[in-house]
Amino acid sequence: ILSKRAYHEKVVEHYNNPRNVGSFDKNDPSVGTGLVGAPACGDVMKLQIKVDEATGEIVDACFKTFGCGSAIASSSVASEWIKGKPMDEAVSIKNSDIAKHLSLPPVKLHCSMLAEDAIKAAVKDYQQKKEKLSMEASTHV
Ligand code: FES
Ligand code: FES
Repeated sequence: ILSKRAYHEKVVEHYNNPRNVGSFDKNDPSVGTGLVGAPACGDVMKLQIKVDEATGEIVDACFKTFGCGSAIASSSVASEWIKGKPMDEAVSIKNSDIAKHLSLPPVKLHCSMLAEDAIKAAVKDYQQKKEKLSMEASTHV
């Protein structure tokens, strides 16, 4: 349990009750996986999205974060925010929005940066996978 003095209560709440912890099968073509690390501290975040191929909407999201309380809280918030959003809206989520929502202090900004990076990486992975699959499909015609 994190000290309330050092962390805003929303961080503590998300740390104690993180939303959407888990993993999807990364080989599922509807899944995008973003794995990112923070150079400043070595913490690692894996964020996965499940995408509705027809609409490009993120229908589900989950994460696993090996990092500090702020990183866990940031991934929890990010996973909630991107659910139900089209991918292009999800990638426009800024780490400053997450940091503001959680009232992160300046020294913890890099923790929310992980979440922004992870969203972008997950969307990129999904798109690259889709491109590869459609290329494979066209060579088999
Ligand atoms: Fe959880 Fe805002 S406190 S998303
Ligand atoms: Fe590194 Fe928070 S201290 S992600």
